[in-house]
Amino acid sequence: MSDKQHAAEKAAEKVKDGMVLGIGSGSTVNYMLKKLAKRMEEEGLQIKGIPSSKKTEKLANELGIPLTTFAENSKIDLAIDGADEIDEHLQLSKGGGGSLVREKMVDSIADYFIVIAGEDKLVKSLGEFPLPVEVVPFGWELTEKRLANLGCQTALRYQEDERFISDNGNYIIDCQFEIIDDPEKLHSEIKSLLGVVETGLFVNIADEVIISENGQLRSLKK
Ligand code: A5P
Repeated sequence: MSDKQHAAEKAAEKVKDGMVLGIGSGSTVNYMLKKLAKRMEEEGLQIKGIPSSKKTEKLANELGIPLTTFAENSKIDLAIDGADEIDEHLQLSKGGGGSLVREKMVDSIADYFIVIAGEDKLVKSLGEFPLPVEVVPFGWELTEKRLANLGCQTALRYQEDERFISDNGNYIIDCQFEIIDDPEKLHSEIKSLLGVVETGLFVNIADEVIISENGQLRSLKK
């Protein structure tokens, strides 16, 4: 079993009967969903999920995991999500899959948010992974220049030769900074730029990180 599967399955064990679960996105979360579906079948566990992307919604439907919306539930008991980078203060860089806006909406409202990952996602400082920033398509060229003025190399995200379109109909600009030593400050600076919808910096949102390293699990908490 891979490290990310190990961490994902451990987190799936923390889901309790009756919970409204925020479901993140990505390959690590997919393992969590599969384990959850197994628990529902074997233990009769009943939950409702709020998915953070169309891909997660599709997999949950295929696995028979009941879903709900913010129209029906304004509260999430527990959210479980992956990350692209995790620093020692549990600050995250996310959005490698392009779902950062919905992920942030789901993860930040949860009473408790658990990040799941293999040890390879732990970093001393964020920034090696290019920071995804979701921008509105109109005038994206101007927004890209504003981002570049903050001192990063920018790249509009493509997928199979087409511009990548997020679930919200927006573009993603990946921003390569040398190092992100103050994620909170950088997030505020980027958020203040016209045309920016959201950044992939998840600052002070994670409550716990479950990491697996060569089959050994450990939990990092705030
Ligand atoms: C999706 O937009 C991302 O934030 C993912 O949570 C992140 O990229 C982790 O994905 P993996 O679990 O596939 O590494």
